[in-house]
Amino acid sequence: MSKTVEPSPSNPPRSPMTVPRFIEAKTAGRKLAMLTAYDYLWAGLMDQAGVDSILVGDSLGMVVQGKANTLPVTLDQIIYHAEIVCRAVKHALVVVDLPFMTFQISPEQAVTNAGRILKETGASAVKLEGGVNQAKTIAALAAAEIPVMAHVGMKPQSVKKLGGMGRIQRDEERLLKDAQVAEEAGAFAIVLELIPRKIAKKITKAVGIPTIGIGAGPDCDGQVLVSTDMFGLSPGFHPKFLKAYADLWTPATNAVKSYVQEVHDGVYPGAEHSHE
Ligand code: KIV
Repeated sequence: MSKTVEPSPSNPPRSPMTVPRFIEAKTAGRKLAMLTAYDYLWAGLMDQAGVDSILVGDSLGMVVQGKANTLPVTLDQIIYHAEIVCRAVKHALVVVDLPFMTFQISPEQAVTNAGRILKETGASAVKLEGGVNQAKTIAALAAAEIPVMAHVGMKPQSVKKLGGMGRIQRDEERLLKDAQVAEEAGAFAIVLELIPRKIAKKITKAVGIPTIGIGAGPDCDGQVLVSTDMFGLSPGFHPKFLKAYADLWTPATNAVKSYVQEVHDGVYPGAEHSHE
């Protein structure tokens, strides 16, 4: 069950984040904090805690579905999760990933599928992996009034071509071009994944739209993390860029262990938890 936190001096009311406000944050020098979410509970909690934007990422395939990579995620699955997330969110800008093979075939395919996402979920924008190679598709989405965030650097949907995920991308000329072309084509923001901080800084200076880094250093206009990673719920995953802001794994495991033990021992429920 979710808990609504009413506005108070320590939790002032916020106006909803929109695409124009997201872009303005760059000009105003306000950093943007984005996290992934896939369900009502966590999306509502993050929204109330003040996150600027929520990404319904296709990392869904790995952190929720337990798959080896993001490729199997379908359009229907991301729509299912995004609709649930949007129901919980009152302030943050909800951005939804276009899964593998839901936009690569043609700009028309991308507009049709992104249109479904906006119509069926209530989200504000979509994200697609690509820069120069997706310029026509970004332009088609923008022309259809669908706000689109580009994603350059390490692109998890290219896992088969790259031979794995997690490799730092260092081709400065190509990365800069990807970002500039994405902006020219009409993207309203760009995720920069796993690139050296110097290059991320250069890109951030070179474009007029916000850059949102993950493993791209402190000079981006904002940051995004996969929420399970920052909650300490991804045991064994410790890339250099990741800061776990909590260790939820240990208390959750201990809670389950205590419950199991007490049920096995006949300790729970005790008299205080029983109706006369
Ligand atoms: O799918 C996802 O969660 C993402 C982030 C890593 C940016 O694309």
